[in-house]
Amino acid sequence: MTQDELKALVGQAALDYVVPGEIVGVGTGSTVNKFIDELGLIKDRIAGAVSSSEASTRLLKAQGIPVFDANQVGELAVYIDGADEIDPRGHLVKGGGAALTREKIVAAQARRFVCIADESKLVDALGQFPLPVEVIPMAAQRITRQFEKLNGLATLRLKDGKPLVTDNGQHILDVRGLLILDPLGFESEVNQWPGVVTVGVFAHQKADVCLIGTADGVRTLSY
Ligand code: A5P
Repeated sequence: MTQDELKALVGQAALDYVVPGEIVGVGTGSTVNKFIDELGLIKDRIAGAVSSSEASTRLLKAQGIPVFDANQVGELAVYIDGADEIDPRGHLVKGGGAALTREKIVAAQARRFVCIADESKLVDALGQFPLPVEVIPMAAQRITRQFEKLNGLATLRLKDGKPLVTDNGQHILDVRGLLILDPLGFESEVNQWPGVVTVGVFAHQKADVCLIGTADGVRTLSY
């Protein structure tokens, strides 16, 4: 099976976790795009979605799914999203698609976080994928120096030769060379640095369930 087919497999499997009549939290990325396609097929059975990015909002609306502002709704039954890395305890690295801040907000609003990914995302320890960190632009240099003290090399993410601007009007640093053995502690520490909007380690908002696409089918990991 191709990676694309594995993503489609878990996108479909995630429908089992959608609660009928409820509003679904929807993440961002190529795997979630497959889920949104599937969600379109059952749109009459859900009340709508809260989206984690402008990109997902566009796709949800194209499927005819009502999209609600997070402030308009209460707790969500479930949040479905992909990941860039998944460790053995369900801690994640996210933000490859630059949507990490809204993803963390919607994940925190949901009772259950179901992560969907192909098996290439499973790792023993977080840190091989460059860690995305959304920052206030004026703090980027200082935060880069902070990461140097942890042996991390931070580079500003560019798009078309210019700094990428997130949906929240901020910038992204991608940090290479980290080995994150204590994801909870690391997330808490980096969150304290002035100018950090969101660090792409999801340990406080880790996955409750991961649906992993493999050549033998969907593997379900619960934490
Ligand atoms: C978006 O900002 C990310 O957190 C994505 O969830 C993550 O990068 C996974 O994306 P893919 O499903 O495209 O691999």
